[in-house]
Amino acid sequence: MKTLHFAAVFVILLTLSGIITCYADINMNLGSQCSVDDKSTAENEFQINRRNLLDSLAANGPFQNGFYKTQTGEKSVKVYGLVQCRGDISANDCGNCINNMTKEALNSCPKSKSVWIWFRWCFLRYSNASFFGSMELSSGAWSNETNFDDPSMGSKGLDFMGRLASNASKQPLKFQTSVLDVGRGKRYGMAQCTRDINQDECHKCLNNQLVTFKEIIGNKRGWETHGSNCFMWYNYHHFYFNISTPASEGGRPSSHKGAAIAPVAAVLALLMVL
Ligand SMILES: *[C@@H]1O[C@H](CO)[C@@H](O)[C@H](O)[C@H]1NC(C)=O
Ligand SMILES: *[C@@H]1O[C@H](CO)[C@@H](O)[C@H](O)[C@H]1NC(C)=O
Ligand SMILES: *[C@@H]1O[C@H](CO)[C@@H](O)[C@H](O)[C@H]1NC(C)=O
Ligand SMILES: *[C@@H]1O[C@H](CO)[C@@H](O)[C@H](O)[C@H]1NC(C)=O
Ligand SMILES: *[C@@H]1O[C@H](CO)[C@@H](O)[C@H](O)[C@H]1NC(C)=O
Repeated sequence: MKTLHFAAVFVILLTLSGIITCYADINMNLGSQCSVDDKSTAENEFQINRRNLLDSLAANGPFQNGFYKTQTGEKSVKVYGLVQCRGDISANDCGNCINNMTKEALNSCPKSKSVWIWFRWCFLRYSNASFFGSMELSSGAWSNETNFDDPSMGSKGLDFMGRLASNASKQPLKFQTSVLDVGRGKRYGMAQCTRDINQDECHKCLNNQLVTFKEIIGNKRGWETHGSNCFMWYNYHHFYFNISTPASEGGRPSSHKGAAIAPVAAVLALLMVL
């Protein structure tokens, strides 16, 4: 599987024209990773197993507090997969996100046996090899922010996210949000791990994201990191949806209309590192 990992550091800078003045947390496709093409993906049995896997993930994910893992098929044509929605996303949006993500997987990696798809609100991974419960320290960091905090603020933010990493890993749903009052405003943080890994691994995974962030993005006021097993988001907007009821059977409340208003910087930096 080594060749599948993020092998290199690459940076994409997109300069977007126009100033957009309304900030809303919108879902988007952040990227994907596909193993090298494999002829055997054309075989009927693999196709059926993959189809059944994706259907099962889409059907169950939204109703299991946004996380579901399963496997289909027998022996050499087994397919293992999991989906996870961001912890603040409603069951309804989670379902739509998973549907969109499975389409994306079939479009961008039709001949791959191992596939990772990152959307802002949800994550999909499947493979012919079992990966459940084994933590991978891969990460990608995204920032759409051109403004930097001063270094003291940046380091407060990192400490805060470090505490959040520890807290989130102890939660049953491996998800937590938190607010930091920096005096001159607030910073909002959110952290989440896939629920197949344990508390220690979750904590390690999130700390690794912070290292990535620190080395690559530095004092940005808004960023997010996405890996195979954990995710972090940080912003000066209240970007996440308010969860009004504790997560429980049957998913989350489906209404979340709010959106913070603020200027959005027009540079997207996409970095993926091992
Ligand atoms: C899914 O895709 C449809 C069609 O492109 C889009 O309208 C919808 O907003 C997407 N939903 C999510 C949650 O990504
Ligand atoms: C998964 O498929 C790859 C080829 O795409 C193969 O090299 C590998 O041995 C397979 N792994 C398992 C566990 O079947
Ligand atoms: C960055 O901001 C621009 C302008 O608002 C938006 O079009 C783009 O989708 C954003 N990208 C990310 C990764 O948030
Ligand atoms: C972490 O948890 C402790 C104890 O529940 C709480 O006091 C603290 O505010 C939390 N910090 C963060 C950043 O989540
Ligand atoms: C969530 O609640 C806070 C405090 O009640 C509010 O300021 C914020 O705008 C809300 N955000 C969203 C996205 O609904």
